[in-house]
Amino acid sequence: MCGIVGYVGAGDALPILLDGLASLGYRGYDSAGVGVIDGGSLEVVKRAGKLDRLQEALDASPLRGSAGIGHTRWATHGEPTDANAHPHLDCSGRVAIIHNGIIENFPELRARLVKEGHTFRSDTDTECIAHLVESHRTDGLAAAVRSTVRELEGAYAIVVASLDEPDLIVGAKVASPLVVGIGDGENLLASDIPAVLPRTRTVVPVEEGQIVELRAEGVRISTFDGIEVEPDPIKVDWDVERAEKGGFDDFMQKEIHEQPTAIRDTLVGRVDPLDYISLDELRLSETLLRDVDRVFIVACGTAYHAGLVAKYAIEHWTRLPVEIEVASEFRYRDPVLDANSLTLAVSQSGETVDTLEAARHAARQRSPVLAITNTVGSSIAREADGVLYTHAGPEIGVAATKTFATQMVALHLTALFLAQVRGTMFPEEVAEVLQRMRELPEQVARALSLDEQLRALARRFAGARDLLFIGRHTGYPAALEGALKLKEISYVHAEAYPAGELKHGPIALIEPGTPVVAVATECHVYRKVLSNIQEVRARGAEVVAVATEGDEEIASVAQHVLSVPRTPELLAPVVVSVPLQLFAYAMAKERGCDVDQPRNLAKSVTVE
Ligand code: AGP
Repeated sequence: MCGIVGYVGAGDALPILLDGLASLGYRGYDSAGVGVIDGGSLEVVKRAGKLDRLQEALDASPLRGSAGIGHTRWATHGEPTDANAHPHLDCSGRVAIIHNGIIENFPELRARLVKEGHTFRSDTDTECIAHLVESHRTDGLAAAVRSTVRELEGAYAIVVASLDEPDLIVGAKVASPLVVGIGDGENLLASDIPAVLPRTRTVVPVEEGQIVELRAEGVRISTFDGIEVEPDPIKVDWDVERAEKGGFDDFMQKEIHEQPTAIRDTLVGRVDPLDYISLDELRLSETLLRDVDRVFIVACGTAYHAGLVAKYAIEHWTRLPVEIEVASEFRYRDPVLDANSLTLAVSQSGETVDTLEAARHAARQRSPVLAITNTVGSSIAREADGVLYTHAGPEIGVAATKTFATQMVALHLTALFLAQVRGTMFPEEVAEVLQRMRELPEQVARALSLDEQLRALARRFAGARDLLFIGRHTGYPAALEGALKLKEISYVHAEAYPAGELKHGPIALIEPGTPVVAVATECHVYRKVLSNIQEVRARGAEVVAVATEGDEEIASVAQHVLSVPRTPELLAPVVVSVPLQLFAYAMAKERGCDVDQPRNLAKSVTVE
C-alpha cells in the first residue's frame, strides 16, 4: 500500500530518497516524509499531501546525511495529517520507523506502551513499533527489531533507523513486499523495485520472516530466529514502466492478481482468536445497531454490485430488511428513513458525488450512515457517522477489481457483526462463516489460475457484438459485475439478467452463436440455473458456465466450463468474479483496448 525507501551509502541520502519516493508515486499516496541521519542528529520532515509539499518544507530546511528512510503513506489508521505521516519516532527521538501494512494487535500494544510511560503523537498503528524498538534499544538496533517483530501481529514491511547506529538501517518483512537494492558502495531497501532502479538493477527480494541489516559496505539477511541467509540477487531488466506494474502488463492485471492479499488485509485485525468480530473504527454504538430495524445501501457502479451481494447476506444473517438503490436515484425519490434505518454508503473512492449526496440525504432524515470505503479521510468517510475501511491499497486501474472484492468482504464482516450484536446467529455459526471467509484468499488465488483458459475464450469471442450474463441469487450481482467489467474495458455490449427473467423478454435476443456467460456455481437454485441454461442452449446460445470444481453435470449443458473452488453461496461472488474479471481483461487486450484508462471513464466521479 505505502511506499518505502531506505538508503545507506556515501552519497547524499535526501535526493536519493526523494527520487525513490517519486518513482513510487504511481501507487497513490496521501502524505510523505523522510528521516535522515547525519552523525549526531536524526532529522525527520513529513507532510500531508503530495511530494511537492514535502519538497517545499525540505527546501526551507534541507537535511544532510548519508543514511535515511523515506515513505509515502496511504492512510489506513488515522487520517492523512502531518502527525500521522511516517517516519514515526520513539519518545527519545533517536529511533525512526517507516511501515507498510497493518499491525493487527496495535490497540493492545499501544495500551501497554502507554502504561509503561511511552508518549504517542499520532493515531497510527505504526507508532507502536517505534516505541517497541525503543524499549529493546539497549540490545542494538538489529536485535531490537528482532525482539519487536516477535510482538507484532499482522502484515508489515518495516524499515528502522537509529541514532545509536547511524550507519545501519534495518528492515523486516511479513506479508508486505520489501526488496534490497545492491549498489556500488551503497545499498537500498524499498517496498517496490522501481524505487531502486535509478541506482541499481541488482535486487534481492526479502522473504517472509526475514530481517535485513543494511550498511554501505554490505547487506546481512537473517531469519526472525537469527539464522543467517545467503542473499540470492536477481538482475532486473524491466523498464521503469513495467517495474511499476510489478512485472504485469497493466495496473488492472496487477490489481486482479493482488486480490488474495487485499482480501487478507480487509480481514486483518477485525476478528479475535475466539472469532469475536470487533470493528473498533465503526464508531456506531452497539445499542444503536441493536435498534436498527432496516438497512439501506446506496452506491454506484461496481460498489452497487457489492451492495447487492451484501443484501443477500444481511437479510439472511440478521433478518433485517435491506433496500438497495443506485445512489443517483435514491436521493431523488422520497425514501422512508428514520433514526432506526442504517444506511450503508459504499464507495471505493469515498468521493463519488452521487453516493455522498445520497448519504447526506439519509443523514438529513436522521439515519445513521456507515461508510464502507477504501480511502481514509475521504468526504464520505468524514461525513459518515461510522466507517469501515476496505484496506485494498490504492487502485490505479479505472475498472474496480480488488476494491470490489474487498467491498464484498467488508460488507460480509458488517453483516456478521450486526448478527453478532443482535444475536441472530449463534457464535458457532459466525465462527463457521469467518472460517470460510479466511479461505477466500486461497480460493481466489486458485481462480486466478484460470487465466490461460480465459485468454483462449477471449480469442474466440473477441469479435462478438453482444454478450448476455445470467445468474440467480448471489450469482445475479456477480453476473451484473461481469457484464459491467466487459463493457467498461472492452467496449463490447453486454447485459446481465437474473437467469429466471430471460423468458420474460431478453431471450428474444438469443440467436445461434450468441455468447451467454452463466454463473452456475453450487447453490440452492443451482438446478433452476441449469434449466435456464437449457433454455438458451435450445435457441443456439454458446454457453460459458462458471461452475463449482467437481461439477460433472455442467459440461452436458455448457460448451465451456470455468471451474472455481467450492464456496458458500453467500460468499461465492468473491471467487466467481475473478474469472469474469480475467475474461473482461483478456477480451479488452484481444481487442487492443487501454484497460487502465478506458475511454470516457474516470476513477473518481465527482460530478452528478
Ligand atoms: C468500476 O469499475 C467503475 N469504474 C465504477 O462503476 C465505480 O465503481 C463507480 O463509479 C463508483 O465509484 P466509487 O466506488 O469510487 O464510489
